[in-house]
Amino acid sequence: MSSSENKNTITVLGAGYVGLTSAALFAHCGYKVYLIEPNKERLDVIKQGKSFFYEEGLDPVIKLAIDSGDLIPTNSYVDSVPHSSIVFSCVGTPDNPDGSSNLTYVYSAAEETAKHAKKGTVYVQKSTVPVGTGAKIVDLFKGKKVDMQYVSNPEFLREGTAVYDTLYFDRVVVGGDNKVAVDAVMDIYFALERFRDHIAHIARVPTGARGDKYIATGLNSAELIKVSSNAFLALKISFANSIAILADKAGADVVEVMDAVGADNRIGRAFLNAGRGYGGGCFPKDVSGLISSGLEYGVDLEIMQAAQAQNQLMPGYVVDKLQDAVGQLTGKRIAVLGLAFKAGTSDVRKSPGVAIANKLKEAGADVISYDPQANEEAASDLHDDVKQVETIDEAIKGADAAVIATEWSEILKYPAESFAQHLKTKVLLDAVNQYNAIDATTAGLTYLGVGHSV
Ligand SMILES: NC(=O)c1ccc[n+]([C@@H]2O[C@H](COP(=O)([O-])OP(=O)(O)OC[C@H]3O[C@@H](n4cnc5c(N)ncnc54)[C@H](O)[C@@H]3O)[C@@H](O)[C@H]2O)c1
Repeated sequence: MSSSENKNTITVLGAGYVGLTSAALFAHCGYKVYLIEPNKERLDVIKQGKSFFYEEGLDPVIKLAIDSGDLIPTNSYVDSVPHSSIVFSCVGTPDNPDGSSNLTYVYSAAEETAKHAKKGTVYVQKSTVPVGTGAKIVDLFKGKKVDMQYVSNPEFLREGTAVYDTLYFDRVVVGGDNKVAVDAVMDIYFALERFRDHIAHIARVPTGARGDKYIATGLNSAELIKVSSNAFLALKISFANSIAILADKAGADVVEVMDAVGADNRIGRAFLNAGRGYGGGCFPKDVSGLISSGLEYGVDLEIMQAAQAQNQLMPGYVVDKLQDAVGQLTGKRIAVLGLAFKAGTSDVRKSPGVAIANKLKEAGADVISYDPQANEEAASDLHDDVKQVETIDEAIKGADAAVIATEWSEILKYPAESFAQHLKTKVLLDAVNQYNAIDATTAGLTYLGVGHSV
């Protein structure tokens, strides 16, 4: 009998960015954790003690937890759920073609758990769901006559810093009516707080407490807190982008503008970075999900529709700007540097870098793309004839111009002289506004940002 047999047991449903990170970290806090993943390929990789996606610090934490027997990856509800007092649902909630949330996995995970859960099991929803979903699942449990408690515990981790964010959180939000169930979930985060410096050491991620706020709310409020948080950040980005386009026309610099606007404590500088817009598995779908929720309740969230429309036009704006600088794109060879939706991850869901590469291709350019982590993930989303290469050098050699589409430090630190040596037109379009513009111009490049120049 392994030492983990006597521990409190948790089951985590879904081994994606959220589920795998949460499960691996909980397994270092004195819990025995089953991690259910139906995707065989993903499950096989995790069983070998590693992640199937790139995330800083995650692999060593998974490896140790698997070796100790405290993290048990499985595809079986029957082997795990009946032994668990708490079940975290971390399944995917992609968007439907109409922008609403696809809750197929959310409901099937709840139904499957209800078949096997023991009396009093606390079911914790970590997946991002539209407001009102929890109440429906509570009804589902009642209809099946299972004695389970339901709470919402929305997830705020950011890909790229998922381990750090989970250990050193701004806030833990737990929504539900049953105090015992809410407290049981809070207890897990107290344990995480106790063990976090030790885990951070294993993961080699930064340490340092942030907010550490514990917030108990009603169920519907917790659901709305999650989507409202992401919607507000998306709003800030789209606001900065709309000002960037005005700055381009008016001869102002959006970086200078937002530095000063953000210096006002009431506003704050974070997420006022203009550029090619937001992407990823969360912001686009959380914004469209919120718009759909509004419509369901008869509320027109025009402010979010505007933020969404602004974001959708940004990759095209970048391509147009490049065309203005280098002339007709037909037959021009353009390097796209960065395909991940942001630095620090291999995630390419709704990635602006991929959109830019494809739009350039549609405009007739010969596109060569490079990403330090996401080449493989991006392959199926790129148009067939977008070429992928393994180094920045390969991408820019013989290219007419280059677009920086993801803020990877390798790309931001790439020497301006080398860009200048290789790019025929000497045009460098920095679609993340983070390359050193002075270095670029000193090296003889024409530096173009989004609402930003030298
Ligand atoms: N990725 C993020 O940065 C992030 C941050 C905060 C919140 N969220 C939210 O968390 C949820 C999960 O996101 P993700 O990025 O980890 O998703 P993901 O798509 O990467 O992973 C979800 C996993 O759930 C598995 N799954 C599907 N049905 C299942 C079932 N019935 N039982 C068990 N597993 C099942 C899938 O095979 C998949 O591996 C989403 O609602 C997302 O919006 C994500």
